[in-house]
Amino acid sequence: THQWRGIIEEYRDRLPVSDTTPVVTLREGGTPLVPAQVLSERTGCEVHLKVEGANPTGSFKDRGMTMAISKAKEAGAKAVICASTGNTSASAAAYAVRAGMVSAVLVPQGKIALGKMGQALVHGAKILQVDGNFDDCLTLARDLSENYPVALVNSVNPVRIEGQKTASFEIVDMLGDAPDIHVLPVGNAGNITAYWKGYKEYAADGIASGTPRMWGFQASGSAPIVRGEVVKDPSTIATAIRIGNPASWQYALQARDESGGAIDEVTDREILRAYRLLAAQEGVFVEPASAASVAGLLKAAEQGRVDPGQTIVCTVTGNGLKDPDWAVAGAPQPVTVPVDAATAAERLGLA
Ligand code: F0G
Repeated sequence: THQWRGIIEEYRDRLPVSDTTPVVTLREGGTPLVPAQVLSERTGCEVHLKVEGANPTGSFKDRGMTMAISKAKEAGAKAVICASTGNTSASAAAYAVRAGMVSAVLVPQGKIALGKMGQALVHGAKILQVDGNFDDCLTLARDLSENYPVALVNSVNPVRIEGQKTASFEIVDMLGDAPDIHVLPVGNAGNITAYWKGYKEYAADGIASGTPRMWGFQASGSAPIVRGEVVKDPSTIATAIRIGNPASWQYALQARDESGGAIDEVTDREILRAYRLLAAQEGVFVEPASAASVAGLLKAAEQGRVDPGQTIVCTVTGNGLKDPDWAVAGAPQPVTVPVDAATAAERLGLA
């Protein structure tokens, strides 16, 4: 028997590591590719969900973080820093523990989900809540990493992208070829950059016969790439992608244009509708930002922009448990019953 060894060991020959790189891993990657029945019916396509919430800290960030922390350790770093809307900080904090390093995280005051804050805290990160948005946090993190002895582990660090590209490898390895379309939520735009790199590498080596069209979706209140200009005060209930000036903006445009894809927006209402559909009809509980990919696919299908018969993969980037407020909000309160079978049966509609 053997278990999945984590993305560095599974894809070592495709990553910038050597025999002397210390591998800091929580066995990330190897996440489920789940056929989505309801989405397939609605689109007339074969739709799969790449469930990245199944990673060790509950998001795709772990793929990049195993690389970033391993390379930082190799370089002798004692401390790492990141700006984050929550998931990167949770991942950095956990991997820093594994590496015996100190982690510092900068988060936008009041704008990160409770589960993510809990993760950073329990893993012992030094947390600063910044009186500003994610973009301000990233500016500050870059400044600190340039002037103090601390390594930056945001996705502007190219080894993060290297780690995250392995999700594309897994999808092609599983499907036997690249899908026709790949759909992602877009925030700081590192992940769409990474997936596109991974797909191109597999196609170049003949492992896939081609590359998918890349479709990225931003939240309407935080859609600088769609608007073509920086959004000064980004807003959305999907706090993970509440970003007004994405670091990998140009790479996202490149992924869009080289792949013949698109970058569009979805409203918070559309995000929440997809969030509920995924949980209630596919059995997959994701955080709101993750549902932006599925919201985008549904929107495109309703506009008649999805030809039937295609293979489509939607990445759902983070676990629903990160931000359960949206699951509870608006749902009916469970009723309380005495320890009595007849009453319970009646309340359950069984009697
Ligand atoms: N989905 C989730 C759940 C995220 O946490 C993020 C980014 C994205 C999508 C967008 O990915 O930035 O590569 O375009 N979260 C970052 C963070 C910003 O700090 O955790 P992207």
